[in-house]
Amino acid sequence: MKTCDQIRREFIEFFEGKDHTAVSSAPVVPMDDPTLMFTNAGMNQFKDIFLGTGSRSFCRAVDSQKCIRVSGKHNDLEEVGRDTYHHTFFEMLGNWSFGDYFKREAIARAWELLTEVWGLPKDRMYATAFEGSKKEGLEPDDEASELWKGVTDIDPSHVLWGGKEDNFWEMGAIGPCGPCSEIHIDLTPDGSGRDLVNAGDPRVIEVWNLVFMQYNRDESGKLTPLSAKHIDTGMGLERIVAVLQGKYSNYDTDLFAPLMDHIAELTGKKYRGKVGKGAEIDNGFRVVADHARMLAFAIADGAKPSNDGRGYVLRRILRRAARFGRQHLDLHEPFIYELVPSVAETM
Ligand code: SER
Repeated sequence: MKTCDQIRREFIEFFEGKDHTAVSSAPVVPMDDPTLMFTNAGMNQFKDIFLGTGSRSFCRAVDSQKCIRVSGKHNDLEEVGRDTYHHTFFEMLGNWSFGDYFKREAIARAWELLTEVWGLPKDRMYATAFEGSKKEGLEPDDEASELWKGVTDIDPSHVLWGGKEDNFWEMGAIGPCGPCSEIHIDLTPDGSGRDLVNAGDPRVIEVWNLVFMQYNRDESGKLTPLSAKHIDTGMGLERIVAVLQGKYSNYDTDLFAPLMDHIAELTGKKYRGKVGKGAEIDNGFRVVADHARMLAFAIADGAKPSNDGRGYVLRRILRRAARFGRQHLDLHEPFIYELVPSVAETM
């Protein structure tokens, strides 16, 4: 079985082999962007390139970016713990083209990595393309839909259309944006998951989002074409690790196992991996594990719990972890700090 470290490394090496420059993750606390409370995507550190206000010495990049999604446009907090595949803190594997290759190469490379290098079953993969939006004056992305059928050997009936919510990616209320193609994998035992694409079911999950950056949305909501077209992709490391390790839940992978074991040790309780009704203890494990990672990274990158703004988000997460610990895991003394060595060891 591949380890999480190996999977992260293979992603980066795959794109390095295709002339991408490997860059470091930016901090989770954005250094220079008042529109963002936390880094919410790999593309944040490249926003200036998309907007044409900055440049780099390279036109292709690859990285694994630390992300936090608990405020603003991308906020997954309510899902965390209740399901097995949303996180407040996660790593996003991504590759970028800055005015260099566009849809054709992005689609072909994603398919090559998933199906040729990692050997994921082609008949279990679905790809989506943007169906357009009359309200925004945006046409359907026929080009992406056709490229999926032309440059990959995906089953053509597995190329689906999706609406603005899933297939038009925006960094925030304002900023760079564009239509996207998502790649989903069907993990149902009998391959019957077609209708579960984008239905919030853990058996059919989105693993990779390929964004075709073409516009900037301004304060008035207007879309203006960017001066060049760019590629911005993002794949949740925790999810792809679960898929490649044959696990249904991100919490069953080696990215979480030491932390889950540590929580079991602290509480004397057992994690059974249940979701839904009667899964309070398991929810407690997942919330505490997720929030311990988020807090450790946010504080290490310079944020502090406080009464307002970013600090208040941290305080709420800290309280939420403490509450789940108290209510579901019988933890009545401070305990989150004890988990930090397990986070550090894995990450
Ligand atoms: N920016 C896109 C996302 O976050 C792709 O990286 O999904």
